[in-house]
Amino acid sequence: MTSQVRGSQLARLLGQWHALPGRRRSPDYAALAAAVRGLLADGRLPLGVRLPAERELAEALRISRTTITAAYRELRESGHLASRRGAGSWTMLPGTHRVASTGLWTPLDDRDMIDLGVAALAAPPQLVAAARAATEDLPRYLGGAGYHPTGIIELREAVAHAYTERGLPTSPEQIMVTSGTQHALDLVLRLALSPGGGVLVESPTYPNALAALSARRARITTHGLGTDDVGWDADLLLGSLRQVRPKLAYLIPEFQNPTGHLMDTGLRERLVGAAHAAGTDLVIDESFVDLPLDDTPLPPPVATFDRHSRVISIGGMSKPYWGGLRIGWVRASAPQVQRLAAARVGVDMASPVLDQLVAVHLLAEASSIVAARRAQLVAQRDALVGALAERLPEWRIAVPRGGVTLWAELDGPISSALARAAEEVGVRLAPGPRFGLDGTLERFLRLPFTLPAADLVEAVGRLAAVRYDLDRTGRSQWREPSVIA
Ligand SMILES: Cc1ncc(COP(=O)(O)O)c(C=O)c1O
Repeated sequence: MTSQVRGSQLARLLGQWHALPGRRRSPDYAALAAAVRGLLADGRLPLGVRLPAERELAEALRISRTTITAAYRELRESGHLASRRGAGSWTMLPGTHRVASTGLWTPLDDRDMIDLGVAALAAPPQLVAAARAATEDLPRYLGGAGYHPTGIIELREAVAHAYTERGLPTSPEQIMVTSGTQHALDLVLRLALSPGGGVLVESPTYPNALAALSARRARITTHGLGTDDVGWDADLLLGSLRQVRPKLAYLIPEFQNPTGHLMDTGLRERLVGAAHAAGTDLVIDESFVDLPLDDTPLPPPVATFDRHSRVISIGGMSKPYWGGLRIGWVRASAPQVQRLAAARVGVDMASPVLDQLVAVHLLAEASSIVAARRAQLVAQRDALVGALAERLPEWRIAVPRGGVTLWAELDGPISSALARAAEEVGVRLAPGPRFGLDGTLERFLRLPFTLPAADLVEAVGRLAAVRYDLDRTGRSQWREPSVIA
């Protein structure tokens, strides 16, 4: 199935295309082609979609059709567009690029690239020993068929125990192991949301959650997070639930990705009450709950306040341990877990037994592994914050108290332009608009501190250099976007 992007949609995505870095030196058609390549690069324009007809885009952008014709020709020549006479033009990528796990594409020879597009740590040193120990345990499972749709009992017990330790009594029957948190979200959406159903999300939010929601054709409403210390505006959030009455709300209360905010206890309690009154199910993504970076006590899990099976919690091993494990989970009521398992059988049957055993061994060492991860993240966060204060002092940064990312407020609506320019100097960024729905958030940039401190400092140096180049190449042409969320 091919989807089509309309002229007005592409014009909105293109936003400031005419003011790209170096713009004054290149003709309109080249600037337009570069902007389309940028949208493909950061994943906002999907692969395989049909672009608007030349006349339609010319009208939407209020420029001549000849410019569009020349831009499309350049995109065809660079391998970003395939056209068939009479049928239209589709986005594609040149053979020298691949689609990365983040949905961003990367050149093949990218060893020198500092990748700030991915917010995840390299594996902890304990992983190899855990994998060896898991192979020793494997014979216990080899006598059976190996399909455990809710997960192997040892892992479900370990995950349930961790919830109980956090003050939320949980039995293994309430846990279903998944192939990562993203898989957990997808399964929950299959079960709890019919196509076209209404969903409330934070803005900004985790881009792959938006992708999962758009795959379900969800009707999305956003709750804009503030740039202060608090993030959620309680009255607005609860008011939206009351007025919109979405089928579902997807929220990240612990060290929210990308802002790093932590929701306080009072709002957690009120949120569950308001959701119940509105008939809304809450999907609570706890990906970062193990990663507080100071001594602030963690509020109780949102599900603590749930009396009516309204809250489905999802989480996983990717952030405190390793993304390559692909182990996540759902915590819900036992009947909901059974329904999820039935849905899952039609998708992937079950998670790999060996990987689950590795997870069991890692969780058995949780306290020492996670303590080391936190210390590492504190040092890297501080190095990043220090480098930003020194090299880009105009950017406003709230130092996050946990998680792995900070959300910088830039000194202009330059995020996408900066990401394009940064790619040229070997830094990959996820620009602000990737974390929203409609091409806004150009004034913001997510910066993860998951790479070694030296890489972070080097990346900030390169960013500072291209940031000031943007000024030299046409800052006067920047216009305020119509909305800044
Ligand atoms: C909020 C959030 N949810 C889910 C995921 C995906 O996690 P997993 O690797 O467990 O699928 C991420 C990864 O960045 C995330 O930040």
